[in-house]
Amino acid sequence: MRPTRSPVLLLWLLLCSGAGTEAIEPVSTTIAFGVVATLTAFITNYRTISNYYYECCHPEWIVFNRTGLEADLRSKLFGQHIASRIILKAVDGFMNNDNPKKPLVLSLHGWTGTGKNFISKLIANNIYKEGTKSSFFHLFASTYHFPHSSQYEHYKYQLKQWIKGNVTICERSMFVFDEMDKMHPGLIDGIKPFLDYYENLDGVSYRKAIFIFLSNAGSDKIVETALDFWNSAKTREEIQLRDLESLLSRAVFNDQQSGFYRTSLIDKNLVDFFVPLLPLESQHIVLCTMAEMKSRGMKPNQRLAEKVAKDLIYFPKTERVFAATGCKTIESKLDYYL
Ligand SMILES: Nc1ncnc2c1ncn2[C@@H]1O[C@H](COP(=O)(O)OP(=O)(O)OP(=O)(O)O)[C@@H](O)[C@H]1O
Ligand SMILES: [Mg+2]
Repeated sequence: MRPTRSPVLLLWLLLCSGAGTEAIEPVSTTIAFGVVATLTAFITNYRTISNYYYECCHPEWIVFNRTGLEADLRSKLFGQHIASRIILKAVDGFMNNDNPKKPLVLSLHGWTGTGKNFISKLIANNIYKEGTKSSFFHLFASTYHFPHSSQYEHYKYQLKQWIKGNVTICERSMFVFDEMDKMHPGLIDGIKPFLDYYENLDGVSYRKAIFIFLSNAGSDKIVETALDFWNSAKTREEIQLRDLESLLSRAVFNDQQSGFYRTSLIDKNLVDFFVPLLPLESQHIVLCTMAEMKSRGMKPNQRLAEKVAKDLIYFPKTERVFAATGCKTIESKLDYYL
């Protein structure tokens, strides 16, 4: 987890940053000036060329594509009208603000397989030319990166150094924390200063970074609300953010299983948006299956997609409204039906 400091990184820093030209001071003699000018021109040209080939923290590599994100949310993300709207507004507003007062902090909550990781991927794909492969996109999974809660002080130190190092290299960095429900609350409190309204901390400004937390915490409340709407014969599109937002932040704050448990992130209002993901219904499973067929270069087959959806497990047991694993297992399930 330690930021690398290899000769390759130094070369990269020289080429990607202004360090190369700033390091060369013009000398008073004409000859020296000529040499410096030639060298500077060479480095500048080389940097222009290398910026083209190697990812740098420059607009050639980091440019927000609003139209792309809007189209992706509309055509690729199914059944999440609330999340789509919030994500587009939040990311668009933030990326178009040259002087944000704090980093963008989103917390995505919902049942398994409803699209939390998928959304973070769509955001990254429309910010970084390299998408989730970008060196400015960082994903942490609690059980993988921070497996032993007894060592949280050590993780906290490492995590702070890692974030600081990466934001120093590129202020437009994105950090995704998966499985927040399994994360030690002390760890989250440790990164709290980065999410706050500070102009800079030890000379580093975190204001242009994006932090996204993903968890299942609060998903029971979301399911309850969705089921209430379903039972009263209202469409799911009638569910509004206000039906869920405060309910969600309260549930997450009080959920002892959640990494947010009584953390100052919530008291201090450092999370800009709590984004609820609704549980998916059979119609959405059909859409996910059709999308999977398309991505494999197959001709979408509606009847087969309906069969896949029909065979899944739904809950609650009597009503059978919501898919127990969402769209998560579709990819492997489809192989079985082909
Ligand atoms: N709402 C959705 N619309 C379209 N595809 C979806 C949706 N939800 C999930 N998928 C598909 O299912 C896959 C798995 O979903 P994802 O990893 O985003 O679930 P998750 O919400 O993070 O679940 P978990 O809580 O188990 O981590 C995605 O890569 C995507 O292909
Ligand atoms: Mg996930």
